[in-house]
Amino acid sequence: MRVHVADHPLIAHKLTYLRDRRTDTPTFRRLTDELVTLLAYEATREVRVAPFDIQTPVAPTQGIHLASPKPLVVPILRAGLGMLDGMMRMLPTAEVGFLGMLRNEETLEAHTYANRLPDDLEARQCYVLDPMLATGGTLAAAIRYLAERGADDITAITLLSAPEGIERLQSELSDLSCPVTIVTGAIDERLNEHGYIVPGLGDAGDRLYGVV
Ligand code: URA
Repeated sequence: MRVHVADHPLIAHKLTYLRDRRTDTPTFRRLTDELVTLLAYEATREVRVAPFDIQTPVAPTQGIHLASPKPLVVPILRAGLGMLDGMMRMLPTAEVGFLGMLRNEETLEAHTYANRLPDDLEARQCYVLDPMLATGGTLAAAIRYLAERGADDITAITLLSAPEGIERLQSELSDLSCPVTIVTGAIDERLNEHGYIVPGLGDAGDRLYGVV
């Protein structure tokens, strides 16, 4: 598994405001959207392309366009939805599948409550969106699920990650034959006893959508 920390001053600037408890929900949503667009740029460095012949006003030439099958973007409900628009701005022709996963706050294990994905993911490049890689339970389950359905290249985009979550993914997904990459805005210090990332930004879903 490859881990890429998108080390860029604009990302660090936006993350600082995202973390700040004084940042209100509309601003939090906008910053998330902007951050995803920047992270998507890094995450799609190896998106598959095919040659494409065009004619400019001056001459014929060959460029490239996204190859088929198109990439599949998979936001993990609920907080991953806040990352979808920013990702689709970069990959407007991608398809979107949804996975609803909830973390049991006592056991911290992931439970799937909604699944709207194509059955066959053979040879698909998948981009999983989940803002917080905390214990890693949700992302490990989501990535394994996609790989077992045939996805052959999986990139997860997270705004923040905890070292514990990254270690868990490294060990739990080591048997997968498909390449897995994590692209994240920052790796924070640790998890606290409630499974929250420290310093983190609190509950990403609550900050995007309000407390339910
Ligand atoms: N999920 C969140 O939204 N925040 C954390 O810090 C950990 C998991």
